[in-house]
Amino acid sequence: MKRLGVNIDHVATLRNARGGYHPDPLLAAKLAIKFGADLVTIHLREDRRHIQDQDLIKICKNKKIPLNLEIAANMKILKIALKNKPNYVCIVPEKRKEITTEGGLNLKKNRSKIKKILSKLKKFKIRTSLFINPTIKNVKLSKDLKSDCIELHTGKLSNLIKFQKDFSNEFIKIKNCAKFGNSIGLEIHAGHGMDYKTTKILSKINEIKEFNIGHFIIGESIFSGFKNVIKKIKRISNN
Ligand code: PXP
Repeated sequence: MKRLGVNIDHVATLRNARGGYHPDPLLAAKLAIKFGADLVTIHLREDRRHIQDQDLIKICKNKKIPLNLEIAANMKILKIALKNKPNYVCIVPEKRKEITTEGGLNLKKNRSKIKKILSKLKKFKIRTSLFINPTIKNVKLSKDLKSDCIELHTGKLSNLIKFQKDFSNEFIKIKNCAKFGNSIGLEIHAGHGMDYKTTKILSKINEIKEFNIGHFIIGESIFSGFKNVIKKIKRISNN
């Protein structure tokens, strides 16, 4: 069975558009789990453009919500993470002007900082993951850094599929990284830009144990309802 992490950042985006309390990310987190998600993912960005500190605090307090917190390799944000103790942390690259997380981590450049962050998280018994572009070099580096998991960036694959271009090379890259990563003891996750079609294609890779999907689930829910979209994604992931 593949796990599904529902990224609820854009519930906060919608809430922040009016500056009030609705729609509430905590309620979205509770409902996502009720409707079949295995975990909830949020990204506490340095600029706090969507998820706010209070959202993180409230969601972490609810022990029935398995939480995956995405953070940049930033000591200030790490401190907040350690204070709130989410179940899982995924380290992601972060640029202030990007619309979303555009690529995977540069592990070579940020090696010592990431190593330090991973070891701190481990001391708190938090499962660690690194968001990387699908290359064997990145998978090897992730293992060297002693991460528990890797999340393979599926943004390029998703775009190729969306624009009806040949995606076979990118799919093979992801598959090879998943197989190799699994063989050296990493748990394999995948995410970014995924929708029903991408999920169906990636569901064929047995080594992938977890999908993290956000924008599509929240957007599609406007038309089909949160419950229906989560149930359909879960079904496609595991058929
Ligand atoms: N995984 C990671 C590591 C991400 O940074 C994001 C975007 O916040 C996602 C998954 C979800 O991407 P999307 O919103 O495009 O489904």
